[in-house]
Amino acid sequence: MTDNTPPVLIESDGPVTIVTLNRPEKRNAMNAALIRSMIETLETLRADNGCRVVVITGAGPAFCAGMDLKEFFGSDDRTAASRERLIQDASEWRYRLLRQFPKPTIAMVNGSCFGGGFSLVECCDLAISDREARFGLSEINFRHIPAGPVSKSMASILRPRDALLLALTGRPFDGEHAQRIGLVNEAVAGDQLLAHTLALAHEIAAKDAAALRLTKECYRYATEMDWDASLAFNAAKSYELLARQANGESRDEAVLDFRAGRLKPGAPA
Ligand code: ACO
Repeated sequence: MTDNTPPVLIESDGPVTIVTLNRPEKRNAMNAALIRSMIETLETLRADNGCRVVVITGAGPAFCAGMDLKEFFGSDDRTAASRERLIQDASEWRYRLLRQFPKPTIAMVNGSCFGGGFSLVECCDLAISDREARFGLSEINFRHIPAGPVSKSMASILRPRDALLLALTGRPFDGEHAQRIGLVNEAVAGDQLLAHTLALAHEIAAKDAAALRLTKECYRYATEMDWDASLAFNAAKSYELLARQANGESRDEAVLDFRAGRLKPGAPA
């Protein structure tokens, strides 16, 4: 890989955009260039009406080997201020930009996923893994702790016993185990991973964009709200949905179709 190689690749499959971490020779470890490129990519895709669903994956044999240990923990010539900025960006693009991204996101875990790569999986709404992918909260083996957003991600998605067992031992595990503990939705054979993920992405992309956005927001905030706050938030979001649809962001044909008996989503296929 030359210095001109983009650290992130972007490819469209109709309404689905595939974003690929592109440092295969470093197992897609997250360095400054990759982090900045992910921030730019997500900011661009947020405003791109042609993009309805984002799939994030890794080039080569790894999904993401976590933070770039050499760049983040080695010495470098950054000033204290630029180093602090980088550390902030490294966390924020995952827990804020990606987690609150206004369109559905799917992590397609094609191979190794370690350390900081966990929060990338958790901050996506859904995750499909190669059943042979290797996962590990390996920080403890470096005499370190799951850094940045990783602890919160684990607390959000895993049962306490599973999260602590993985974090305290650093034991690696495979995609099938990741599915059993709920870290990913499904683990499939490697040769079916892309087709399987794209089928899911297209299924979701066909839904109403505004309803998808607000479904995701209501769910994400409900996990952090009590019942009363969540019901009030949901009521406000229902009005927001009407306003967005009236604004032309999407139409309510589906409800009209349902009323007219043309649409019955619960009917057997
Ligand atoms: N940071 C920096 N470089 C990395 C990282 C990383 N996290 N992971 C891999 N690399 C580099 C290796 O140093 C090597 O570079 P080199 O060719 O310049 O020596 C290259 O990627 C290939 O790595 P290999 O180990 O040869 O690849 P392999 O396919 O055999 O193994 C694996 C891949 C399992 C991901 C292994 O590299 C590994 O265990 N990496 C560390 C993963 C980890 O524990 N990450 C957590 C970091 S802690 C955190 O995120 C806070």
